[in-house]
Amino acid sequence: MTVSIEQIDPHNEPALRAWWEVGHAATAERPGKPWPVWEQSRVAMPRHHPEIGVSLLGAIDGREMVGAGLLTRRLKENLHAAMAFAWVVPGRTREGVGRSLVRELEVMAAGDGRTTVQGEAFLPPGGSAPAEPFAAAMGYSVASRESIKELTVADYLARRPDLARTVGGAADGYRFVTFDTVCPEEHVESFGRILGLLMNEIPLGELDLETSEWTPERIRAAEQRQADTGRHVLTALAIAADGEVAGVSDVRVDDTDHENAQVGITIVDPGHRGHRLGLALKMATHDLALSAYPSLVRVDTSNAEVNTHMNAVNDALGYRSIETLLELQKKL
Ligand SMILES: CC(C)(COP(=O)(O)OP(=O)(O)OC[C@H]1O[C@@H](n2cnc3c(N)ncnc32)[C@H](O)[C@@H]1OP(=O)(O)O)[C@@H](O)C(=O)NCCC(=O)NCCS
Repeated sequence: MTVSIEQIDPHNEPALRAWWEVGHAATAERPGKPWPVWEQSRVAMPRHHPEIGVSLLGAIDGREMVGAGLLTRRLKENLHAAMAFAWVVPGRTREGVGRSLVRELEVMAAGDGRTTVQGEAFLPPGGSAPAEPFAAAMGYSVASRESIKELTVADYLARRPDLARTVGGAADGYRFVTFDTVCPEEHVESFGRILGLLMNEIPLGELDLETSEWTPERIRAAEQRQADTGRHVLTALAIAADGEVAGVSDVRVDDTDHENAQVGITIVDPGHRGHRLGLALKMATHDLALSAYPSLVRVDTSNAEVNTHMNAVNDALGYRSIETLLELQKKL
């Protein structure tokens, strides 16, 4: 193979653009919004992130980039783990380019002291894609199966009156607070407590990940990074009678794209379940996103197939499965 694997400097904009084009081409057949718009990547990829280390690889044949790799690792927790991604342009697959990229990403992860490498494979619902046998060939096992879901705004609006009736008075003991990205000061500590529950409460399957602590300072720094990259995290909090945050959900919209939004996190404190807070919170964030961005067309989300409660809420909202996501893992 004449292809060489090289590190790509994300500050070198033509090189970053070539890298972006590979991922764009390799994901073009997937439904939904599988790849960020260039303007988003152009701004976000070179930016220093104090919590995530990012390395890019290019597979270069002559003067052409035919494959792209990405390694991300958390710098504050999960120091044992890294995430590896590879994309190969259609027309240059099955030549060993993907294998060379993943091998190099694993060497980089190991060099950084990481012992677990995780990845993702997206498949059509009920079907397969090259990423599935590729992952198996590279020694990755399936740690969790997730469903990628999409909601059209038209479907949501058609269902909204029924949904409001479903919530009824179930959440009457709670107050709802919504905000764009920046949590009101009086709730920030309690918000951090509930964020700390996230890793324990979302079904991770066999994924080897640990919990994290969210101090107000860390939350403020994360909010600032979202603002700096032009991302709006439209958030709803359910506040219990004692003033504590009982649940949170958010929908994210980028300044570069006012038609597509993504659900970020959703969690209800185990002590406050059974009051339809999941549904009420999601309605609050979807309503907020729609009033702020009337041009919104669709929202996507993903959850573990075993997460029955969240799936029931998403089904009620009108979400439909568009892809299966395999969460992959390999111990080095
Ligand atoms: C998955 C992907 C990266 C594979 O890249 P590639 O360069 O074709 O992979 P390689 O040629 O190195 O294949 C390595 C091995 O994986 C397996 N494999 C890869 N593609 C396969 C396919 N379509 N069918 C069956 N096995 C496959 C084979 O065992 C192959 O070895 P072999 O050719 O000697 O039999 C590429 O298809 C792609 O870019 N897909 C879209 C993006 C994506 O899904 N990325 C992975 C998740 S981040």
